[in-house]
Amino acid sequence: QYFAPAVQPLAGLKLMLTAGPTREALDPVRYISNHSSGKMGFALAAAARALGADVTLVSGPVSLATPAGVQRINVESAQNMYDAVMAGIDVQHIFIACAAVADYAPKIVASHKIKKTSADNMVVELTKNPDIVAAVAALQQKPFTVGFAAETRDVEKYALDKLKRKNLDMIAANDVSGSDRGFNSDQNALSVFWQGGLQHLPLADKTGLAEQLLTLIAKRYHDTH
Ligand code: CTP
Ligand code: CA
Repeated sequence: QYFAPAVQPLAGLKLMLTAGPTREALDPVRYISNHSSGKMGFALAAAARALGADVTLVSGPVSLATPAGVQRINVESAQNMYDAVMAGIDVQHIFIACAAVADYAPKIVASHKIKKTSADNMVVELTKNPDIVAAVAALQQKPFTVGFAAETRDVEKYALDKLKRKNLDMIAANDVSGSDRGFNSDQNALSVFWQGGLQHLPLADKTGLAEQLLTLIAKRYHDTH
């Protein structure tokens, strides 16, 4: 049996999040992607629902069940994800970018399967994808915008740089240099930064961590609105 939390700090709020990897096609049968499992984003979606939010989850290809009561939109590429987010962002109060969006996509997508040639090397030209969270944060009617930063070194420095450069309201940084956390793991630890503040959320399972992060997001949202 499921018991909803007694306190629902996100009641009445619309929250959109992105999760999982994106796939950037090379040809009809091949793509470039990454190891994101989508677990953190899906845990956040479930926790946001439990805390009372009306949740829209824009997800790249992952093998996870949609959390109960969450509206899910499936996408493949970064451009698809950008289009899906932009189509629904205007009514959202909170936006959380948890997806591991591919920074670049093949410049040319071959319409037929690329054939092997006699050459030992091949070069694939890539072109930059749109930055979804930065585009959301640049909107005139900007929702409370939260980004993630997965770093293997200088976590705080890069996170603070992204907070400022992308005009985010909050950033959750995780150190992905170890295998006990982040990307494919069930556990994670986060350092959360905002203008003039910081809170460390120690190593925990992604469900517990998601609830802690959303409680913090709800507090910051209500403090600033
Ligand atoms: N992000 C996004 N769209 C992109 C790239 C990133 O929305 N095209 C979001 C991610 O979902 C995350 C945040 O931006 O919330 C930071 O992603 P990250 O990859 O750490 O930042 P980048 O600016 O891409 O910098 P780099 O990969 O060089 O560290
Ligand atoms: Ca990136």
